[in-house]
Amino acid sequence: MQKYSIKPYISEEDILKRVEELAKEIDKDFEGEEVLLIGLLRGSVVFLSDLCRKLKTADTLDFMVVSSYGNGMESSRNVKIIKDLEENVKGRNVLIVEDIIDTGNTLKKVKEIIETREPKKIKIVTLLDKPERREVDDIEVDYVGFKIPDEFVVGYGIDFAQKHRTLPYVGIVVKENE
Ligand code: IMP
Ligand code: MG
Repeated sequence: MQKYSIKPYISEEDILKRVEELAKEIDKDFEGEEVLLIGLLRGSVVFLSDLCRKLKTADTLDFMVVSSYGNGMESSRNVKIIKDLEENVKGRNVLIVEDIIDTGNTLKKVKEIIETREPKKIKIVTLLDKPERREVDDIEVDYVGFKIPDEFVVGYGIDFAQKHRTLPYVGIVVKENE
């Protein structure tokens, strides 16, 4: 494998500050109601853990596994459900929690699947968004932590070939000899 290094990009402190701001925004929008958080494994798990403890409206957690990237850096457009939800979403407020939106294909598919189950309301929160890479334009992302340029990032749950998820900050993967 090509050698690479990780350049710090968003600090732990900045992430946690932004997570608190997002939680306030979400709580305001769902005031007086209860929300089921749906995390897409494995990337969203660190973000979801921090976010859910700041949210007053989140009452239940569930998880889905969908295939997207395999073990490389290339997006695959064929999104498959590997593990489905345990919860029944019918008539409930749902917040899909994602680590990063790239082409938008994963979230578009996940949202479509959940919509057929007739939730009361679906909203989407993502820690990171790479708007330049978007391939689907009809996906509405309600809450975005940070908009980032077209760079491959790792840390705070996000991996490169399953590594670096446990870094407390977000870093950019810099290939050597580039
Ligand atoms: P999309 O379907 O192209 O939007 O892909 C979204 C998924 O691809 C995310 O949930 C991540 O798992 C993965 N992904 C996208 N960009 C990156 C990145 O920069 N680093 C690591 N994983 C990424
Ligand atoms: Mg993911």
